[in-house]
Amino acid sequence: MQISNRQLFLNHVAQVAPKTMALEITKASGVYLSDTGGKSYIDFISGISVSNVGHCHPNVVKAIRKQSETFMHLMVYGEYVQAPQIDLAKAITDLLPKNLDSVFYTNSGTEATEGALKLAKRVTGKTELICFRDSYHGSSHGALSVMGNEEFKQAFRPLLPDVRILEYNSIDDVNKYITSRTAAVILEPVQSETGYTVASNEFLQAIRKKCDETGAMLILDEIQNGFGRSGTFFAFEQTGVVPDILLLAKGMGGGLPIGCFISSRERMNEFTHSPVLGNINTFGGNAVCCAASLACLETIQTENLIKDIDSKSELIRSLLVHPAIKNIKGKGFMLSLDFDDTDLNFQIIDACVKNGLIVDWFLFNTQSMRIAPPLIITEAEIKMACGIIMDSIDEVLNSKK
Ligand SMILES: Cc1ncc(COP(=O)(O)O)c(C=O)c1O
Repeated sequence: MQISNRQLFLNHVAQVAPKTMALEITKASGVYLSDTGGKSYIDFISGISVSNVGHCHPNVVKAIRKQSETFMHLMVYGEYVQAPQIDLAKAITDLLPKNLDSVFYTNSGTEATEGALKLAKRVTGKTELICFRDSYHGSSHGALSVMGNEEFKQAFRPLLPDVRILEYNSIDDVNKYITSRTAAVILEPVQSETGYTVASNEFLQAIRKKCDETGAMLILDEIQNGFGRSGTFFAFEQTGVVPDILLLAKGMGGGLPIGCFISSRERMNEFTHSPVLGNINTFGGNAVCCAASLACLETIQTENLIKDIDSKSELIRSLLVHPAIKNIKGKGFMLSLDFDDTDLNFQIIDACVKNGLIVDWFLFNTQSMRIAPPLIITEAEIKMACGIIMDSIDEVLNSKK
């Protein structure tokens, strides 16, 4: 008997949850996915904030093709002068303030977090790391240490010592707990896994002030926020606050795996001595990934993809008015719909997927539905997607009568 792909997936691809979506996707293009049965889905979550320019954008595909015919991996991190790395670093740093002029390439967001924590400890000579309740910065030991959720951490202790968790948006906590002992404060301008909780500008400004007073490094994690998703290229542009270290990944790669942490050249130079090779990897800055990322960045610019994010975000809010939706949080293309309870949310999500729309929940908030479409989505597609959500809510509620 032939074993199905689904069964082979369950048998041989390591599983991380008792139940997964297990969709068998055969093709992805723009905002659409199609499965083995020929069914089409609108991807309303961008593969969790990755496909900002849509799936298989022709510019990204072309760049990958061209670079993969030229060279791919040449050497471990930092040894050779590689044009794709330089072009991308120049393009990103051109968009940033002067203190963020040096890019360290990583393979993932988690690895960017790890590098940034190390850099902060190295630059300050201090050890205390401050993070926030229900923050998510990755899944490895260091990143897990600054996760603000004990349920997900406890099985893996001991983790890094000297970590303090503060309440997000609490200026009191900031003023009380960021001290001369603090090496780094790490947070997202829009906290993703709680259901897109937006940091107030006053909160971020209070953190900036405290970091300046105490010498702590301010690390902003824009791994989900960045590359246009917040309504500006970087979310921090809307806050009046500039970080000491910036983290990017996910949407940065146009669909290929790449991340980075960015700081000043002077700070990054700490990795060159005592010890030499203070932070290294093999594949960071892979030429093909860099070429894809540059094509993604340029596409966001040339196709003016950020211009309409706020009005499209408003359109989504205006179309999703239903007594079952208790609240809509977030900004730009990071929105969450709050329902009364987890069961209802999961049932509506399942109905949406059945009806051809991919939506999801949040790691630390199972009562809310995640909406994070590709930036290229059109108004007509938004109307279709929101129509599916409204119909799916009614379908679930009617089935309970
Ligand atoms: C805000 C944030 N930081 C860090 C990470 C970790 O990134 P990666 O999964 O690429 O390691 C994620 C991933 O979901 C994230 O959303």
